[in-house]
Parts: sequence; structure tokens; C-alpha cells
Amino acid sequence: MQLKFIIVTLVIHHASADYFRTQPDFVKTCLKSDPEFDDCSRDAVQKLFDALGPGLPEIGMPPLDPLNIPKIRILQGEGPVNVNAALDNVTVTGFGKTEVLMSQVDSKTYDFYTKVRVPKIRIEGTYDLKGKILVIPLVGRGKCWFEPSNMTIDIVSDIKLYEKDGFVFFNVTAAHVKYSIGGLKLRMNNLFDGIQSLEESTNAYLNENWRPVSESLRPILSKTIEDILLGFTQTLFHNLPANFLIGDVKNKNKKLEDAF
Ligand SMILES: *[C@@H]1O[C@H](CO)[C@@H](O)[C@H](O)[C@H]1NC(C)=O
Ligand SMILES: *[C@@H]1O[C@H](CO)[C@@H](O)[C@H](O)[C@H]1NC(C)=O
Ligand SMILES: *[C@@H]1O[C@H](CO)[C@@H](O)[C@H](O)[C@H]1NC(C)=O
Repeated sequence: MQLKFIIVTLVIHHASADYFRTQPDFVKTCLKSDPEFDDCSRDAVQKLFDALGPGLPEIGMPPLDPLNIPKIRILQGEGPVNVNAALDNVTVTGFGKTEVLMSQVDSKTYDFYTKVRVPKIRIEGTYDLKGKILVIPLVGRGKCWFEPSNMTIDIVSDIKLYEKDGFVFFNVTAAHVKYSIGGLKLRMNNLFDGIQSLEESTNAYLNENWRPVSESLRPILSKTIEDILLGFTQTLFHNLPANFLIGDVKNKNKKLEDAF
């Protein structure tokens, strides 16, 4: 598939609030030297997701569930998806039920490897669309929803360590996401400006062909999930000293810098 252009605009309000100086009770400390580190860290990351669900107002973090995104723009040319679309006033529900399946941390770089499962996600908003999905030309604007089920997501988070006031912090510099879903239901109201018979048959066709439809949405959905995760993890970890999570964290870069 050839992509000319994808633009996603997400506005996540970044916190400028003060960081946690004492360990909050949603943070569980694990030791990298512990042979059971991976199990401990899976529980610790689960507790983080559980806390992010309702939000952390003390560090200015909005809820992850429901998640409000003012606008997602999609501009994508060529291939099976050829669309110029905008989603406005988007509400995403379901990430509060995220189940952490695996968590590993690289001993050298501290990069995070995380695998999660989200049983059901619902994305609702107002769409404005002109383009082609599969072989169908689509045009319309109105309310829409998408429901991917049993989504499993593999996340690699690139980490750099830095120090502030003598505390070590994780700087999440990038997130890489690979996901799979077990199903997709969707509905776009007012397709073809409300020509009822076309609207019904097209929605039925898209639902019957959910696999190729979801494949064609993969680049935009991957990028959107990456942007959401990056926004949340960056804010969280800039506010949470690393040793609260990994008790024996070592800033190796610091030692190198000091040596020179
Ligand atoms: C989005 O919501 C805002 C505030 O509720 C409203 O003013 C605006 O018209 C909505 N935009 C669309 C495209 O529905
Ligand atoms: C969800 O997906 C995973 C991995 O694709 C699969 O192993 C599991 O059986 C699925 N669970 C449900 C409830 O469909
Ligand atoms: C985090 O990493 C980014 C990208 O490498 C860098 O621009 C930024 O200054 C870093 N932030 C801190 C606080 O170290």
C-alpha cells in the first residue's frame, strides 16, 4: 500500500504541574535485580493503567477513559484507502479496561516492552469524509462510531534517562505500536448525504468486510494509538521519579558524562 500522506492532529494537554516527590500508592516498586522482575513489572504497569483510567488531576493528566480528542485529520492518498477525512469531537471509551499481559524492561537502555489487551474500544465522533475505502467511493458527514474488539497491542517505548533535582526520570522519546483485533463493527450515519438505501447497504458491506476495512485503517490507527500513548506516558514519566518504579535504576549515561 502506498501512502502519500497521513496527518494526525491530537491535542493532549501536557502538564506543567509539579512532580511527585513522595511515592503515590498507585506506584509499585520493582527491582531489576529481582529474578521475578517481569512479573512484578506487569503488576506495576497494570496499576499505572488502572490509575490513568480516571485521570491524575494532581499532575494535570486528563482521564484515559473516556478519552476526548478534539480533532483527528486523515489525509491519505493512493492504495485501498484514499480519503480526505476529519473526525471531530472524538470520544474513545474502553482503555480503562486495559489488561497488561506482559512487561519487560531492557537492562541496558531501559526501553519498555509492553503487551496489553483491550477487550472493547468504542470510538465516537463526527466525521466528514470524501474518498474511497476498498472499492467504494464514500462521501458524507455525520455521526459515526467504530468498535474494535479484543485488541492486543505490542508497544515498544524508547527511553532516555535524565536527572532533575537529583532524581532520575524516564524520558519517553518514541512509542512503536503493533496491534491485532478480533473484530470491528462500525456505523457511519448520513453517508451520501442521507440517501437511505445507499447508506444502509454501504454500512452493511463495510461491516461484512471488516477485515480488509480494518487493514486499510491500520496506518492511521497505529499512528493515533502511538500519539495517544506517547502523550500519556511522557506526561506521566516526566512527573514520576524513575526509582519509584525501578528501585535500583542506574543512570549509566550520567556516569559516562561524569567520567569525561
Ligand atoms: C464539537 O463540539 C463543540 C462543543 O461541544 C461544538 O461547538 C462543535 O460544533 C462540535 N463540532 C462538530 C464538528 O460537531
Ligand atoms: C483475543 O486475541 C488473542 C490474540 O489474538 C487470542 O489469543 C484470544 O483468544 C482472543 N480472545 C477473545 C476473547 O477473543
Ligand atoms: C527528551 O527527549 C527529547 C528527544 O530526544 C528531547 O528533545 C528532550 O529535551 C528530552 N527531555 C528531557 C527533559 O530530557
